[in-house]
Amino acid sequence: MPEFRLVQISDTHLARRLPLLTDNFHRVREYINARRPDLVVNTGDLGWDGPTSPDDLEFARTLHAELSVPCRFIPGNHDIGDNPSDVGPPPSQPITERDLQNFIAMYGEDRWCVEAAGWCFIGLNAMVMNTGFPREAEQIDWLAEQLAGVKGRQVALFLHKPLFLESPDEPQLAATSLRYIPVQPRNRVLQMMGQVDLRLVASGHVHQRRDFSFGHVRHIWAPSVGFFFSDKRQEVIGTKEVGFVEYRFKPDSFEVFHLKAPGQIDVDLDSLS
Ligand SMILES: [Fe+2]
Ligand SMILES: [Fe+2]
Repeated sequence: MPEFRLVQISDTHLARRLPLLTDNFHRVREYINARRPDLVVNTGDLGWDGPTSPDDLEFARTLHAELSVPCRFIPGNHDIGDNPSDVGPPPSQPITERDLQNFIAMYGEDRWCVEAAGWCFIGLNAMVMNTGFPREAEQIDWLAEQLAGVKGRQVALFLHKPLFLESPDEPQLAATSLRYIPVQPRNRVLQMMGQVDLRLVASGHVHQRRDFSFGHVRHIWAPSVGFFFSDKRQEVIGTKEVGFVEYRFKPDSFEVFHLKAPGQIDVDLDSLS
């Protein structure tokens, strides 16, 4: 295989009652079905709000079934509820076992490893981190097994939430504690990744596009396919726009393309209500 093309979409937030978001998904679907990458990864928040409206997840499932390429999914806080942080207020909608199992029943495993072109692509369920759920410890054991089998391949990690803003040394702030992976599980994952050649961490959740490197690792924040938040609601960190990310992986390198599908429209959350 000369190269492996992977398209990351994120934060599609689909719901039957929100046609603007469905339209943006269809524009991306048209791009994907025309370009036929080897794999599509949705890094979470598939539905508008699965815990309160289970039909959103079912609607999102039917739309993703229209993608004519293999897909993998990891859950976001709007799919199964949020994980607690140690420094900030508790999430308004905490993760539940019921919503987690519902997601797995609809979308398959919430963690996965795909090998291609000399790479291991690993998806992790960020929402179980810091919960104490049995699934959290199981995921760590599973990750250790996967990493033991990497054997010199480069590794790309996919999670709903980013690991950090600039560096793993920064303190976690109460005001933004639900934006990032909590400190303890983050440090655990990074420590485990120290035994392999981690090159890429791809996340969603923030609804802003961002691309930076820390050490040898490139961190990509995919924008939402559907909408962004106004400056009144959320500070500017990266680029507020809708879109997606395409990657081309070769055994010793990868390229990143920040894209917007033809006809995809920048939607401000405030215009939906
Ligand atoms: Fe989101
Ligand atoms: Fe999210």
